[in-house]
Amino acid sequence: MQIQAGTLKRKNFLRGGILLTLENLSVNFGDKKALSKINLKVAKGEILFVTGVSGAGKTTLLRCIAGDVNPSKGKVNGIERNIFISRVFQDLRLIQDLSVWENLRLSFDPLIYKNQKEFKDEAVRLCNFFSIKDRLNDNVMNLNGGLKQLIALIRSLLSKPELILLDEPTSSLDTESALRVFELLEKLNEISGLTCIWATHNRDLVKKFNGNIAYLDKGKLIYSGHACFI
Ligand SMILES: Nc1ncnc2c1ncn2[C@@H]1O[C@H](COP(=O)(O)OP(=O)(O)OP(=O)(O)O)[C@@H](O)[C@H]1O
Ligand SMILES: [Mg+2]
Repeated sequence: MQIQAGTLKRKNFLRGGILLTLENLSVNFGDKKALSKINLKVAKGEILFVTGVSGAGKTTLLRCIAGDVNPSKGKVNGIERNIFISRVFQDLRLIQDLSVWENLRLSFDPLIYKNQKEFKDEAVRLCNFFSIKDRLNDNVMNLNGGLKQLIALIRSLLSKPELILLDEPTSSLDTESALRVFELLEKLNEISGLTCIWATHNRDLVKKFNGNIAYLDKGKLIYSGHACFI
């Protein structure tokens, strides 16, 4: 698959309204200012890249939105509406001594899927997209880092979230595979209006993106807007 710079076009998601607003958000860990006075809006159906070097505050921002870090000051408006959030953690949190399928099955929810078959069909469909259907019975501990990331992503998507928070979900993948992940998120975004907040320090990926980014440096939001201006 060839994807050229500028082909990752975003549709007009602003018509969907605002999903989240970060208002003067600050997080301190002791003396460490991990985030300082962040103001940011995330539109419904947006794919937003949060970027910046290691230690810039990307994970902390995602953790605030997920509600597992309390702001020292400011707030995240929107999460009180009980948005259904799913996450791909930087450390993946797969169960190493279970198979791929056993890990994916952890996302089965009878409130979302009519039955196990419908769930399995969806899982196979997502695995097929990455040509990894033949890995379903493999033990996760035997997979390479890139495959593990794809499994963590698929597991997260199988819970059919409104908002997915992705923390460096493609750091072990080559740029081509990372773009394939982007392509899948775009498709889901079109089908179901999925909103994505994707933390990455991969500049190649960000450069190919034709949408909004938030650029953090030492906990401060240095730039938010279209990726082409960075
Ligand atoms: N639980 C914590 N306790 C103390 N300091 C923390 C904690 N979590 C993060 N920090 C500090 O806050 C700053 C921002 O960390 P964060 O993990 O959000 O950065 P990041 O941009 O995700 O980095 P990376 O690209 O390495 O994942 C760093 O200086 C980090 O050491
Ligand atoms: Mg991080």
